[in-house]
Amino acid sequence: MRLRDVFVKALKELGIDCISTEIKRITESDDPLQSMAYHVIMGKAQVCRGLKGKVFNLNQECENPAYVGKCDDPILTRNDLLEKAKDFPFIVIDCSFYDFHTEKEKKKLKLQIQQCLGVIRKFMWDERLVITHKDFGVGVFYPSTAKFIKEMGLKDIILLDPNGDEVFEGQRAECYIIGGIVDKTGNKRGWTSKIGENLRREGISFRSMRIELRGDVIGVPDRLNTIVEIVLRVVLDGEDVEKAVRSVQSHLVAKWRLRRELPKRTIRIDVNGKPFRVVRKSEIKSFDWLNIRPKDFYEACSELGYLVIDDEWLERILRNSTFDESKNRYIFKGFN
Ligand SMILES: C[S@@+](CC[C@H](N)C(=O)[O-])C[C@H]1O[C@@H](n2cnc3c(N)ncnc32)[C@H](O)[C@@H]1O
Repeated sequence: MRLRDVFVKALKELGIDCISTEIKRITESDDPLQSMAYHVIMGKAQVCRGLKGKVFNLNQECENPAYVGKCDDPILTRNDLLEKAKDFPFIVIDCSFYDFHTEKEKKKLKLQIQQCLGVIRKFMWDERLVITHKDFGVGVFYPSTAKFIKEMGLKDIILLDPNGDEVFEGQRAECYIIGGIVDKTGNKRGWTSKIGENLRREGISFRSMRIELRGDVIGVPDRLNTIVEIVLRVVLDGEDVEKAVRSVQSHLVAKWRLRRELPKRTIRIDVNGKPFRVVRKSEIKSFDWLNIRPKDFYEACSELGYLVIDDEWLERILRNSTFDESKNRYIFKGFN
């Protein structure tokens, strides 16, 4: 359930069957109901009785209309909606390693955090994004993750960590912590676990979880905004992890995973004593769980030095070969 769904439910409970607004930012948005909910919860507008501007029907009728705007006697305010939305989780980006990044990485980190806010607004609202240790003027700033957790009295916490102990399958928590880390230079492997160690030293208990795609973290995009989107799609929309990963997976990240998978799909053939590794052309269909285009498949095969062969041709070649078990390869004898 996104904030939009909580908002619609609240309107229906008030007997409202259509909602309207004159606010342009709402009418022009991709998701007007989420945008209305956002305006109300951020205190920029309220829900008032009557019709004004563009109408969005919640049912077939429009007998009890309301509008999002300003009035003296609102029927739904920021505080009402905050109360109804109090179970939404917090997303914390822990930037305790900010100073260990290069200037270029720091810029990337800032950009990714701004993009996280864009994601948060599709599902919730700004106050659910908490940035610790470094203030980027985005979301809510806290000097440390431990301070935020203690002040809010949060108990149920998940640290998203590629080296985490458990696999994330949509487990619910009051707070999800993501490392404000950009992996462009140097070796930052294990830094997220260090964030965890520091939290433990502060007396915070949490579960650490890794997001996997078919048993491996390779292929899971690691940009902060994509991690936020995966978590929210799974936890709030109820999507399965594989679908959520695929929806934010770039072709580049998909190709990294493809390169890891391809060696398992090759056939070894010796032609005139020269060894070749070949891939059936139809294998491309078995990678429909990755966000790859045909071009990516052929490029990855070529980069790995594999030949892609039409299935019919490959069958002909194999029919004219013998299989050498000791070498685990076919020996091509030539066409009859
Ligand atoms: C670019 S990653 C940095 C990972 C870091 N090099 C490490 O080894 O801990 C940024 C953040 O995204 C999250 N993240 C990235 N991939 C993840 C995965 N497969 N599972 C869980 N969290 C992940 C983590 O919170 C991580 O701190």
